[in-house]
Amino acid sequence: MKKIALALATVAGLAATGAQAQDYPTRPITMIVPFAAGGPTDVVARIVTDHMSRTLGQQIVIENVAGAGGTTGITRGAQSQPDGYTIMMGHMGTHGAAPALYPNLRYDPTKDFAPIGLAAGTPIVIVAKKDFPANDLKGFLEYMQTNGEKVNMAHAGVGSVSHSTGIFFNSVIKAKPTMVAYRGTGPALNDLMANTVDYMTDQIVNVAPQIQGGNIKAFAIATPERSPVLPDVPTTKEAGLEGYEVSAWNAVFAPKDTPPEIVKKLNDALVKSLDDENTRKRLQELGGVIPSAAERTPEALQKLVESEVARWTPVLKAAGATAE
Ligand code: MLT
Repeated sequence: MKKIALALATVAGLAATGAQAQDYPTRPITMIVPFAAGGPTDVVARIVTDHMSRTLGQQIVIENVAGAGGTTGITRGAQSQPDGYTIMMGHMGTHGAAPALYPNLRYDPTKDFAPIGLAAGTPIVIVAKKDFPANDLKGFLEYMQTNGEKVNMAHAGVGSVSHSTGIFFNSVIKAKPTMVAYRGTGPALNDLMANTVDYMTDQIVNVAPQIQGGNIKAFAIATPERSPVLPDVPTTKEAGLEGYEVSAWNAVFAPKDTPPEIVKKLNDALVKSLDDENTRKRLQELGGVIPSAAERTPEALQKLVESEVARWTPVLKAAGATAE
C-alpha cells in the first residue's frame, strides 16, 4: 500500500511541477546580483531584466547580496528553490575564477546551476585615479616598478572579476600593490574618482562613462580591438604590454534541477531582451558586447563556464593568488 501511495505522491509531485512550469511565472521573480548596487553586474542585470520582465509578464526584482567576491550571493542562489523564482546574475569571477581561490567553495559552477544564458561580454579596462602620476600605460608601468608597494589597487573581493583580472595584471607587470577590497566595483569607482584608491582593472560597462567624462584615467583596454565607445583608449598590445588580453562576461543562472520548461521561458525572455533595440543600445553605449545567437543558449553557457574554470585556475595559481 505504501509503495502505491509513494508512487501516487511522486506522480502528483511531478504533475504539480509540470503545472507550475506550464503557468510560470505567476508572481515576481528575484534576481540575486552578488555585488553592490551600481556596479557592472548590477547595471547589466537591470538593463537585461527590464525587457525580460515584459516578456515574462512578471517583475524581476534585483536583490544585491554582496560579499566574498560574489560567492555569498551565488551560494544563496544555488541553494534556493529550483522553481524559477530565484535566479542569479553570475560572471567570469563567480563562475570562472572562484574555484581556484576558494577551496571550500559551497558550489560547483559546472554542476550546481541550470545555465540560462549569456547576458553581455564586458571587456576589461585598466583605469586609474585622475591624480595618478602617469598619463599612459608606459608611464604607469615605469612608476609601478619603483613605487609599487606604495600603490593600492581596488577590487570587489577575492575571486571577483576585478580581483582575478587584477591579480593576473599584477603578475604580468610584476607589481605587488596593496589590495583594497570593496563590496563591488561601483563603490570602488567612487573612491577612484575621489582619488582615495589608485587603480583597478574593471569591466567597461562600469568605467566607460567616467572615462568619457574625464573623471578617471584609462591606460588601456585588454581586448584585441579598441572599444567603439572608447576610441582613444589603446589596446594593451598597442600600449606595449604583451600577454594581457582578458574580457569578462555576465550571465544568468538558475539553481540546478530547475524544470526545463522554466529554463526555456527564462532563456526565451533573455534572448528577446538581447534582440530589443533599446536593451542593445543601453548595453552597447556602455561598451558591453551583445552575445551572438549561438552564444545565448544554456548549452553554450555551460561550455563557457567549464572552459573559464579550466582557464582561470592555472592563471591564478601561477600568479600566486592565495585562497580566502
Ligand atoms: C561588480 O558588479 O561590482 C563587479 O562585477 C565586481 C567584480 O567582479 O569585479
